[in-house]
Amino acid sequence: MYKILKLNKISDKINNVFNGEYEVGDKVHNPDAILVRSADMHNYEVNENLVAVGRAGAGVNNIPHADYVRKGIVVFNTPGANANAVKELVLTSLLLCGRNITGAVEWVKQQKGKGEEIPALVEKNKARFVGREITGKTLGIIGVGAIGALVAEAVYALGMEVYGFDPFLNPDTAHRLEGKVTFTDDIGELYAKSDYITIHVPYTPATKYMINKEAFSMMKKSVNVINLARGELVNNADMITAVKNGDVAKYVCDFPTEELIDVENVITVPHLGASTPEAEDNCAVMAAGEIADYLENGNIRNSVNFPGLYAPRTGRYRICILAENINEVMPSVNELLGRDNVHLTAVNSSTGKNSAYIMIGTDSDIYPSLVKDIEALDKVYKVRVIGL
Ligand code: MLT
Repeated sequence: MYKILKLNKISDKINNVFNGEYEVGDKVHNPDAILVRSADMHNYEVNENLVAVGRAGAGVNNIPHADYVRKGIVVFNTPGANANAVKELVLTSLLLCGRNITGAVEWVKQQKGKGEEIPALVEKNKARFVGREITGKTLGIIGVGAIGALVAEAVYALGMEVYGFDPFLNPDTAHRLEGKVTFTDDIGELYAKSDYITIHVPYTPATKYMINKEAFSMMKKSVNVINLARGELVNNADMITAVKNGDVAKYVCDFPTEELIDVENVITVPHLGASTPEAEDNCAVMAAGEIADYLENGNIRNSVNFPGLYAPRTGRYRICILAENINEVMPSVNELLGRDNVHLTAVNSSTGKNSAYIMIGTDSDIYPSLVKDIEALDKVYKVRVIGL
């Protein structure tokens, strides 16, 4: 029986994945895995036997995933599962920037009580809320991953010109967007060309405050900026100055803070990017599937702190070893397997930036001492045997 703790409200659709040998709930003790959405795990005390955390979403800044490497806890996310929901909010944001809808709605509300005068007042005042069309304008997309690519396709279809900047661009995405997006290696070029800019990069120490006064100095006057990624990507003090002096026409942000609320031409919404039932279901099911495959088979897909590894099961047992480095660990592992006469049916491994993973299939009996001795090796973080 595997135990899954939910740290946030997660779609019930996970019950279709965790059927049978699972206990799932928000009060589960000593879980094998945790499902989380936005709960902050930085000060969360993890239990000894925790082996996986699944983030139902893309961003993982609420999880200390680098620290979890040494603890042998694999952190999964769900890239792309909520991309359509975020894309649709980007489209909404573009139109909110162009058409002054929020100001107009507020003005209309203030006309309550004016009765039959309202139609005339509307015609007299509508010029105050005149907007611009997005067709023919240029959108710069910073980060052309799952979300950025969907945004690019949608706005291209709406007649926008699209610039893309992404140092980690996937070649398949580049191919898919050929003829629709002008990719540049120079973010300054994107800034200089764009009437609208939308950001779709993860929040890391390297991307913190990447939109700041230096960036504004390279942008077109009266640019519109959309940030549905993470609040900390934008230096709010610089943004407020830029909005107040007209360098930025509108800033749409999914991460309200005290200083942003009530600034004219800043439109904040309460982290709604992925808040659709469709996206919540997709993310939950994808995260649950990744966790179940890891618990039941040892396969790793979409981990942010261990390299991916997937292989069909061979043998009765699968020994799963999370380590720092394969080359330094494997000779000693082989020695221990030889000592216990373990006959191997398959060995699969993969190496990441700061971590490695090995899966060993076998039909031989596995003694607890073997597991203990492998786990005691230098640079080995965690050993699990599936099938026992
Ligand atoms: C994400 O990281 O995928 C989004 O911010 C959505 C969310 O956190 O719910």
